[in-house]
Amino acid sequence: MKVLVTGAAGQLGRDVAERFAASGHEIVAASRQDLDISQRGQVLGVVGAVQPDTVVNCAAYTAVDACETDAERAYGVNAWAVRHLAEATRRFGGHLCHVSTDYVFSGEKAEPYHEWDRPDPRSVYGASKRAGEQEAGHDATVVRTSWLCGRHGTNMVGTVLRLAAEGGSLRFVSDQRGSPSFTPDVATVIERLCVDRRPGLYHVTNQGEASWYEFAREVMVAAGLDPERVEPITTAELVPPRAAPRPANSVLENRALALADIARPGDYRAPLARLVSELIN
Ligand SMILES: NC(=O)c1ccc[n+]([C@@H]2O[C@H](COP(=O)([O-])OP(=O)(O)OC[C@H]3O[C@@H](n4cnc5c(N)ncnc54)[C@H](OP(=O)(O)O)[C@@H]3O)[C@@H](O)[C@H]2O)c1
Repeated sequence: MKVLVTGAAGQLGRDVAERFAASGHEIVAASRQDLDISQRGQVLGVVGAVQPDTVVNCAAYTAVDACETDAERAYGVNAWAVRHLAEATRRFGGHLCHVSTDYVFSGEKAEPYHEWDRPDPRSVYGASKRAGEQEAGHDATVVRTSWLCGRHGTNMVGTVLRLAAEGGSLRFVSDQRGSPSFTPDVATVIERLCVDRRPGLYHVTNQGEASWYEFAREVMVAAGLDPERVEPITTAELVPPRAAPRPANSVLENRALALADIARPGDYRAPLARLVSELIN
């Protein structure tokens, strides 16, 4: 296949491009400098010129707190731009795979969220991403993932290792739970869904759940450091307080993958160990 990856300089975009390339697909990796997806003319021009079989949209405005005060940019990149990608893939015959987030949920449910649970975002970021899911259209694959960690991004694993090396305080909230997910594993499922051109919504996360506090402890263990250095705090104790509310529970059940008989990413501790060893060696 010929695959156009947008947001290809981002954390997920780089590993998605690498995953498809490793399988022998032809890749056009477009960073924001190459293709600003919020510009309809650019999207139609590039998709028309490349004529991809699949467009994987890894571009997003992901600064969750900044979105609270810049709704125009949040909706411009996370929702409006998806309308252009959907239009372009419809016009030129390609398939769209769009990436979304666990933050479309309120977090009030006690159990993991599945694909048929009702989204109820509480932040501008979550609301703009929910709008993007709706813009992708019925023929698109929509992949909702959570708590992404990869080699190429700023994420929890890198943050914990940096704070631990600096000897700083390691205080993480124990009242937000999710599924840590690793970009190579998510990319593998994205590739499968694109090869099959499967329409519809899929939750794609590593298995297992943790609070940020528990996850920080796991990072320390994986790095051979003392997990007792990590202290639990509540969201209300965060200084300064975060502008955007986060869901208390955003664990995603991968129900559609199970129904489709597609292998779900495994427990998060194995890819965590691999990533930690890559980052510290
Ligand atoms: N990170 C997480 O924990 C997480 C959790 C759940 C879901 N997700 C979703 O997963 C996807 C990938 O996230 P990520 O962690 O890889 O984010 P990321 O590292 O911030 O990558 C996003 C990329 O999109 C680019 N971008 C921003 N505006 C653009 C525009 N108008 N046109 C083209 N590119 C643009 C960014 O470029 P600049 O850096 O130059 O702005 C960046 O390279 C997103 O859809 C995100 O919502 C992420």
